[in-house]
Amino acid sequence: MTNLSIILLLSLAFSLSVVFAADPSTLQDFCVTNPIGQVCKDPKHVDANDFFFSGLHTAGNTTNPAGSKVTPVFASQLPGLNTLGISLARIDIAPWGVNPPHSHPRATEILTVLEGTLEVGFITSNPENRHFTKVLQKGDVFVFPIGLIHYQRNIGYGNAVAIAALSSQNPGAITIGNAVFGATPEISSGVLSKAFLLDKSTVNYLQTKF
Ligand SMILES: *[C@@H]1O[C@H](CO)[C@@H](O)[C@H](O)[C@H]1NC(C)=O
Repeated sequence: MTNLSIILLLSLAFSLSVVFAADPSTLQDFCVTNPIGQVCKDPKHVDANDFFFSGLHTAGNTTNPAGSKVTPVFASQLPGLNTLGISLARIDIAPWGVNPPHSHPRATEILTVLEGTLEVGFITSNPENRHFTKVLQKGDVFVFPIGLIHYQRNIGYGNAVAIAALSSQNPGAITIGNAVFGATPEISSGVLSKAFLLDKSTVNYLQTKF
């Protein structure tokens, strides 16, 4: 192996370890994502727009079966968030719509209600599976601890709007129904019928819904 290929391999290994790490402490002021590669954009070419996102004044389209829409502002929407361990999202929920049960594997979420009335809750891990729930009004704040399953439902008469701040540039989301009944390729109905105490036809029905 030539010295050059060793250097190339080492730099590749280093860049991969940075890219796949979960929000490491920052070692520099910023590392704005370079859309071409995974290394930081040359700081000389970084400008204010790399730290800027516009559009959260616009309501998300809630005309869908859940009656809700999440508009993310993660590192993929705002490259300057890369390595900074923080992000946010706008959540719109139509009356009686839900942001269905889901979890963020990499982030705690703190939610502020801007408009409307939200029923929110999260469930702790096994074996307690304790359900913490609360009705929130405009100006109220609630926190969903990292990794725990949580949801929001609009129980008011008008549209509800909330801003969620998350402790990761890329929090990830696992929506329980989609993951369990909408997996590709699907989880066998034998597994799901035992796991959820359902007959196989109900499992197959749920799989067509997701
Ligand atoms: C909202 O989404 C629905 C369903 O996809 C679509 O029919 C409708 O045109 C959308 N409304 C707007 C304003 O984009």
